[in-house]
Amino acid sequence: MDTKQLAGEKAVEYVKDGMQLGLGTGSTVYWTILKLAELVKKGLDIRCVPTSKSTEKIAENLGIPLVSLSAINHLDLTIDGADEVNPNFDLIKGGGGALLREKMVASISQRLLIVIDESKYVSHLGEFSLPVEIVPFGWEMTSKQISRLGCNPRLRTKENSPFVTDNGNYILDCYFEKIQNPSTLNSALNMIPGVVENGLFVHMADTIVIGNRSGNVEILKK
Ligand code: A5P
Repeated sequence: MDTKQLAGEKAVEYVKDGMQLGLGTGSTVYWTILKLAELVKKGLDIRCVPTSKSTEKIAENLGIPLVSLSAINHLDLTIDGADEVNPNFDLIKGGGGALLREKMVASISQRLLIVIDESKYVSHLGEFSLPVEIVPFGWEMTSKQISRLGCNPRLRTKENSPFVTDNGNYILDCYFEKIQNPSTLNSALNMIPGVVENGLFVHMADTIVIGNRSGNVEILKK
């Protein structure tokens, strides 16, 4: 079985009847969403907040009950993917461009469970370019300011035009190689005018579900 599928499907074991859930974005949590849809058909009672338009569409088509973030006060659990995870459970997210909604949803969630394949569990964050969501206005200036933090930002493009997020913003992919202090960098980035949010999730995840090539699933808990 695919390593992403292994991790994604395992995560549904943490879902209980009556829960309010955050539904992440990407090709790993996709497997969680498929499994959840099966369970909903069998009578599982859940309400979910999607973290992107694409997840919203998938979940809606599968008949998973959705609710808007504005209509709720808290979530019991969010299940989401990540691009890198370090041993402190700090994350880089946003490879799919959904980092802002993902962070907002995770921030009101009692628990954040991350599903990954084993290649994403790393000793240091930063080999994967850190996605930073910025407003389009004056984006070159924002990019220059971000580069002073020690990276080389690249504007994400799609079909030769800037990639536009679900929130109408741009993404800079910032290569740091090795992020020594994710918490400090997270704050420094978000202090720059023009930055909307960055893909570092610090002290947010409590459980990591890892699909291994050997066919096993490893569960790490804080
Ligand atoms: C979406 O913006 C991301 O944060 C994803 O959660 C992350 O990129 C993991 O995606 P995959 O599961 O598709 O690798």
